[in-house]
Amino acid sequence: MTRAWAPGRVNLIGDHTDHAGGLVLPMAIDLGTTVSGRRGGDRIELRSTQQPEAAVVSIDVEDPAAIAPAWARFVAAVVAEVRPEEGFVGEVTSDLPVGAGLSSSAALEVAVAMALGFEGSALALARLGQRAEHRASGVPCGIMDQLASAAGVAGHALRIDCTTLDVDPIAVPADIEVVVVDSGVRRSLATSAYAERAAACQEAARLIGPLRGAGPDDVAVIVDPVVRRRARHVVTENARVDLLVAALGAGDHDAMAAVLADSHASLRDDFEVSTPGLDRLVAEVAALHGVIGCRLTGAGFGGCIVALVQRGTRLPDHLLAWRVEPVGGARCEP
Ligand code: GLA
Repeated sequence: MTRAWAPGRVNLIGDHTDHAGGLVLPMAIDLGTTVSGRRGGDRIELRSTQQPEAAVVSIDVEDPAAIAPAWARFVAAVVAEVRPEEGFVGEVTSDLPVGAGLSSSAALEVAVAMALGFEGSALALARLGQRAEHRASGVPCGIMDQLASAAGVAGHALRIDCTTLDVDPIAVPADIEVVVVDSGVRRSLATSAYAERAAACQEAARLIGPLRGAGPDDVAVIVDPVVRRRARHVVTENARVDLLVAALGAGDHDAMAAVLADSHASLRDDFEVSTPGLDRLVAEVAALHGVIGCRLTGAGFGGCIVALVQRGTRLPDHLLAWRVEPVGGARCEP
């Protein structure tokens, strides 16, 4: 019996920067996806407790994007990347909500790859998962989600430089809890403007060079106001990642609050990936006693907000909230 588990992730700060080679600060969380079963045969057959139809994929699948049902495309894309010598029959279980912005698809990709016997480094596993995501969904996502799931460190968030792919664990102070609050609005990145936003960042980089090395003065010369605002978000968000890293290190709650609020405002005004519902939720949660600060997290267009709270803070019952702890990355037995 093989059992692979991969965590979801929540991003503390640094959104819509990974596809532009920027800085991110996600953490792997104690909610994740398990793939268990037996290797053998010539096809991958997985039932999911969250899906009505099974995924049935030949080990030599050629066109993963053509597979049905939709969730089986992610399995098929991983199979096409791993190219296992033998099949797998088993089950997928998960306590990650689908489409909420906690990287349920990345966790599925990473867990399936490990269950099929992938044995490379965490970075290689993440790259494989990212390629599978591109193939299955057509969304040109960055590497944050898969790398957070593959390389998580207990008690820590990960500062990832998406240009060099250096990963630095950053301790989450013991007196702080990370809470994820669901807006209840589900979105699919394929139907969102994700690709359009990423393309605007590429256009900005064509004009002024890699955004990772750019500053506000470089961005100011971009003539197109939309491209300029998209680039300004990336450049200022990169700086905010290191501001939050410093604030976490210093235990400076006021600085944490300010940088989280600035990140949300930049995602709302410059990158335009927030929604009125997310804005209302951020305003409501930020004002609660014990909440240090909060912002939308992940791709936006719905999904969740992330809040840093003083440990033990109780949020009102009407909020759909998960307390999450930073955990180690994906693992497989035997
Ligand atoms: C999604 C993508 C990530 C990242 C975030 C936004 O989760 O999969 O690569 O771009 O959106 O930060």
